[in-house]
Amino acid sequence: MMAPDLNQPLVLPCGATLSNRIAKAAMSEQLADRHGHVTRELRRLYDIWARSGAALLITGNVVTDRNALVEPGNVIADNAAALSGLRLLARSAHAAGGAVWMQINHPGRVATVPFNRRPRGPSARREPVPGFNIRKP
Ligand SMILES: Cc1cc2nc3c(=O)[nH]c(=O)nc-3n(C[C@H](O)[C@H](O)[C@H](O)COP(=O)(O)O)c2cc1C
Repeated sequence: MMAPDLNQPLVLPCGATLSNRIAKAAMSEQLADRHGHVTRELRRLYDIWARSGAALLITGNVVTDRNALVEPGNVIADNAAALSGLRLLARSAHAAGGAVWMQINHPGRVATVPFNRRPRGPSARREPVPGFNIRKP
């Protein structure tokens, strides 16, 4: 079987078409300011990635709750004040006509110490991975 040509468009089941088969994976940028707002540096990064030739940019973690950060410097989208920055970020990401998908994240029980001493998640069990919220039962 022939491998698909990376330059060929890809039609996704949802109906969206990507102009080629190259995507940038989600990589947490940690470039938001201390309020979780999009910064000039983050927009510049997406401007550069937009011109990389990848048809799809998947953003790093954008968290939905400022009390549940994954890392410092995450973009936080938990109120309307975040929207203007996110619009500018989308504009940068679209600079060369590619698509951008925002990865929306709530870390739940794998919230990282020391940012989340009382993580909230669907399970009452704590994550048994070093660096995450482990507490002796
Ligand atoms: C610096 C860095 C940051 C990452 N941040 C995220 C992230 O925010 N969200 C996510 O789902 N995966 C994240 N990942 C995982 C990558 O998206 C990818 O799944 C992982 O690197 C495995 O792909 P690879 O085998 O091509 O390296 C990150 C990876 C790296 C190296």
